[in-house]
Amino acid sequence: MDKFIINGPTPLNGDISISGSKNAALPILTACLAFPGIYTLKNVPDLRDTRTMLRLLEIIGCKISKETESIVIDSINCNNPEAPYELVKTMRASFYVLGPLLSRFNYAKVSLPGGCAWGPRPIDYHLTAFEELGANIDLDSGYIITEGSLSSAKIRFPKPSVGATGNVIMACSSLEEEVTIENAAMEPEISDLCHFLSKAGVSFDGIDTSTLKIKGIKHKNPINLSYTVIPDRIEAGTFLIAGAMNGGRLRLNNVNANHLENVIDNLIKSGSKIELLENSIIIDSDKNITPVDLSTDVYPGYPTDLQAQWIALMCIANGKSVIKDTVYLDRFTHVPELIRLGAKIRMDKNIAIIEGVKQLKSAKVMSTDIRASASLIIAAMNSEGQTYLSRIYHIDRGYEKIEEKLNNVGASVKRINE
Ligand code: EPU
Repeated sequence: MDKFIINGPTPLNGDISISGSKNAALPILTACLAFPGIYTLKNVPDLRDTRTMLRLLEIIGCKISKETESIVIDSINCNNPEAPYELVKTMRASFYVLGPLLSRFNYAKVSLPGGCAWGPRPIDYHLTAFEELGANIDLDSGYIITEGSLSSAKIRFPKPSVGATGNVIMACSSLEEEVTIENAAMEPEISDLCHFLSKAGVSFDGIDTSTLKIKGIKHKNPINLSYTVIPDRIEAGTFLIAGAMNGGRLRLNNVNANHLENVIDNLIKSGSKIELLENSIIIDSDKNITPVDLSTDVYPGYPTDLQAQWIALMCIANGKSVIKDTVYLDRFTHVPELIRLGAKIRMDKNIAIIEGVKQLKSAKVMSTDIRASASLIIAAMNSEGQTYLSRIYHIDRGYEKIEEKLNNVGASVKRINE
């Protein structure tokens, strides 16, 4: 199994190019199933998760070809509206195929995702919404079987859910009646999905707001479109926090600063200097970090996907900070590992109370999920000595060429296989 050996401390200086967004690319890839067509997608990051999704699309019947700067998906002859357990269990986002398959075939059979590394992640909002749209839902041998043609409805989610919003949008893509989603997720990845489907002829009202109206379209012939996925705001946020924690001057290119407003505000409060240019962000840090308390929230709040990285930063702040996760109450598997690096963290339910220390020290630590791994890499770059980070297959799910990007700006991250 691959491991990282990380030597620290290392300041970070130079340029990093941000990849396309994982969490925008995944639903857009599945949306190619909604209408038979040829889709040319640019800025799809090359990750374990996007490869898993492409494999799933092939099982469903898509033909896929990779070109230098794009991926071409031919979904014209898809004929197998099923997502097997073997793939869904490795990536929950596979559940996204349910909506577009239901829209196109009035039928979908998708394995229930099962547990997740940091606790239960239910799919009840997805299923209740499909029922409200008129689908019949059955559970058979661990598979959700959804059947029926959909009709107009007003759906109100108990709280905003990225996955349920995306799945319902895709389920309605060929429904020629208006569907309203109230309390819809407003994450930029959802807006990107709407922009992609708009190019396919679906009409939207309320993109970027919490009340989204969708009117689908039926196509007589296969469609042909090309689309560029937005930059990954979570990858960019991770490198910004890495810059703040390790000191130096980093410039991130191919990034949309509007998607990172909350994160940038908090970085400024914690003492970093930030300069915004067109498509680039520059961060300057002298590692003199002011403690900043925060709570994660749905967009435009501080993202849960950057909570673990913020805790890493606060481990070396000049004092005490309090970090709360309101989206995922159990998402703290990085905390015991950060403590192995010398951090002082106490947990009280979904709240981490951190007492900053002057210097972290290397140790053997373990990745437990994508963002926990990112937090440990940032902390290990700051730790004195050599840190071994195991189970890095988690990081490969969500960060493209992370060691190459970090080594280019002065880090010492080496991949070994043992
Ligand atoms: N929820 C329910 N029932 C549902 C759906 C969600 O109770 O049917 C709850 C969840 O338990 C959670 C909240 O609603 O408390 C929000 O969950 P959401 O559905 O928004 O999460 P998701 O769609 O499963 C996506 C990202 C996650 C990210 C969350 C929150 C993708 C592929 N995944 O998950 O990303 O943490 O939104 O922003 O887009 C990651 O990239 O590392 C990652 C985990």
